[in-house]
Amino acid sequence: TQDHKGIFTRLPFSEVTDKDLTFFKDLIPGRVVTDEDDLKSHNIDWLRTVRGHSKLLLRPKNTEEVSNILKYCNDRNLAVTPQGGNTGLVGGSVPVFDEIIISTALMDKVISFDQVSGSLVCQCGCILESLNQYLEGQGYIMPLDLGAKGSCHIGGNIATNAGGLRLLRYGSLRGTVLGLEAVLPNGTVLNCLNSLRKDNTGYDLKQLFIGSEGTLGLITAISILCPRKPSSVNVALLGCESFSKVLQVFTLCRDLLGEILSAFEFQDLESMNVVQTHLKLMNPLQESPFYILIETAGSSVQHDEEKLNVFLAKALESGLVNSGTVATDQSKIKSVWALRERITEALAHDGYVYKYDLSIPVEKLYALVEETRVRLGRTAKRVVGYGHLGDGNLHLNITSESHSKSLVAALEPFVYEWTAQHCGSISAEHGLGFKKRNHIYYSKSPEAVQLMQILKKLLDPKGIMNPYKTIPSSG
Ligand code: FAD
Ligand code: MLT
Ligand code: ZN
Repeated sequence: TQDHKGIFTRLPFSEVTDKDLTFFKDLIPGRVVTDEDDLKSHNIDWLRTVRGHSKLLLRPKNTEEVSNILKYCNDRNLAVTPQGGNTGLVGGSVPVFDEIIISTALMDKVISFDQVSGSLVCQCGCILESLNQYLEGQGYIMPLDLGAKGSCHIGGNIATNAGGLRLLRYGSLRGTVLGLEAVLPNGTVLNCLNSLRKDNTGYDLKQLFIGSEGTLGLITAISILCPRKPSSVNVALLGCESFSKVLQVFTLCRDLLGEILSAFEFQDLESMNVVQTHLKLMNPLQESPFYILIETAGSSVQHDEEKLNVFLAKALESGLVNSGTVATDQSKIKSVWALRERITEALAHDGYVYKYDLSIPVEKLYALVEETRVRLGRTAKRVVGYGHLGDGNLHLNITSESHSKSLVAALEPFVYEWTAQHCGSISAEHGLGFKKRNHIYYSKSPEAVQLMQILKKLLDPKGIMNPYKTIPSSG
């Protein structure tokens, strides 16, 4: 774990005093956490790579409490870090020094659900999987899904603009989030919580908060458009000999599966090895350099099966895939998805993880993994590539027994320069957080970053909202 005390200078925020504690205890009795042991898991990130030193965690239950907390912190010049499920992968959800952690765990109520339009309004701390279960009972699903669904909060998803496994079908949160409510650092409640599909009255302020990683305000409630639950879901796992064949399968898929295609994920052999080794998951296929996971979701079992069969026959006949298995029942679907979804977890068992989340034009996407493998040789334990191929999103992960400065030096700036040269983005879906904020210039112009800094200053003049994160400080 990297401890940033010493490497980094703490900005001149106030420190929490007994008087402050008294104020918070009066405001939210029984929900002020100061016990060191209770704070431990909130001070360290999911990857266990960054650690902060907060001495105070607050657990508000509603917007008014968040507003009172932020107004007080702003007046007192106390820095804060909003925290949802703490599953973020770029060190954004934990304090760097002693920032006060504001947990959204108790803000977990559904406010309303419209059966006809499918719009769900809820508090920010609802767990993604719980929302999905709630909706399934009403014939709907959430428009996003990710491996961290069991612990991530919808507010955290929106604050990071999470992509995930269904983006190919339902699009980004920038389209499905209909409205949100956020509390600004001075305590102002910004109510943009409408549920309209169309609303062209002025600037679309909610977009500023989507992907803002807790640096502009705390998202307290959201309105999101949910799709109908598909009555027919199929999953196919296919083996492929080369990456160029993976791309051809993608084109074939879009041609033959069309509107029922709901996911197109890929993983290389090394990432299959890692889930087999550390999680003891069973690979139902023969060993292949690449695997593709395709999901279809539609409204007619027969129609979808027919389409899938035509596609599979063609893919096998033409030699684009060498093996395959199809899952139609819930438990097999789950076990096939686990091979892809649980790579992140398996990698965490492999050692120290160097994680890169890149958008790269698809034809070039795997070349980076191959070049990295050659470049690192035997200095890395593993170099693995997987991701949301349908979205042009590569997850390049490297592991080693323990953190190695020389490995970092071999990886950076190499990975970022390579990505920029190929017109990609150095963060496709995880955000910049603490770890990547200074690399923003690989993907954004100085003018764009400067405007971000101006916006930050406007909304958060004292800089108390998640300092040291997302954008470089304006100095
Ligand atoms: P946290 O980790 O608690 O916070 C993330 C950031 O948002 C922090 O900067 C925090 O300050 C801020 N924040 C949190 N809540 C709020 C709020 N209410 N208001 C303002 N700011 C807030 N990401 C993807 O995009 N796609 C994936 O497929 C994916 N899969 C994952 C799989 C695993 C196993 C894991 C561990 C992570 C994965 N992620 C993925 C990372 C992803 O960013 C998070 O899982 C999720 O979106 C973060 O939600 P959270 O509630 O845990 O937020
Ligand atoms: C995924 O797609 O599995 C997630 O984004 C997590 C990761 O990149 O490891
Ligand atoms: Zn991902």
